[in-house]
Amino acid sequence: MPQLLLLYERYWELLVMNNRTRKVVIALVGLLATGAVSAAETDQRIAESRMAVKSFATQLKSELVGAMKSGGPTKAIGVCHMKAPEIAKNVSHAKGWAIGRTSLKTRNPDNAPDAWEKKVLLKFEQRKAQGESVKKMEYSAVVDHDGKREFRYMKAIPTGKVCLVCHGSNIAPGVISKLDALYPRDQARGFKEGDIRGAFTIRQPLD
Ligand code: HEC
Repeated sequence: MPQLLLLYERYWELLVMNNRTRKVVIALVGLLATGAVSAAETDQRIAESRMAVKSFATQLKSELVGAMKSGGPTKAIGVCHMKAPEIAKNVSHAKGWAIGRTSLKTRNPDNAPDAWEKKVLLKFEQRKAQGESVKKMEYSAVVDHDGKREFRYMKAIPTGKVCLVCHGSNIAPGVISKLDALYPRDQARGFKEGDIRGAFTIRQPLD
């Protein structure tokens, strides 16, 4: 009987030890998995993000300019309304990422920033106030999202003169009525040239 008890205890010890060992192994693997993305990989992801932003911006601009030329701003609003989300979706699909535009003052509520984006947008305003140029302003980080890692990237969008037709403080009445009809919760008016209109935003899944 006592021998059996001893055996039982040994067996138990072994179990506990194994359990501890297992925990250590799990912790180590976890540490490796959540480890920092290497500098080279970060550079690569930033470079690819810049290219995706460029592709998105170029397509959008050509749609916008084309519509402005052929039918003026009221037609261009319709194009922006239809095409902006479509182009974003196409570029996102091509990459397997999520790409969009966001702002502290949105026109389309679908573009509202999440908590992380809002922090970055506020930081961009701070950086601008400190004299940094908006043109090259960007930010990236590896962020935990529901237990999964993501590489997130944002690039500031400066307000140019042409943007004021629809985002400025002196918008033509015809444009205003079209905007009112499509975007009853429009906040994206009253911008001045050089302001940060918003930002391109990208999420790349890492896990
Ligand atoms: C012809 C009118 C028009 C012009 C000009 C225009 N926009 Fe917009 N903008 C819109 C509309 C409409 C939307 C909403 C698109 C949507 O539904 O996703 C929008 C949305 C945006 C958004 C997405 C965030 C939000 O507010 O929903 C950004 C960023 C933006 N515009 C930046 C610019 C910049 C920068 C320029 C100048 C280069 C510009 N826009 C010129 C009409 C315009």
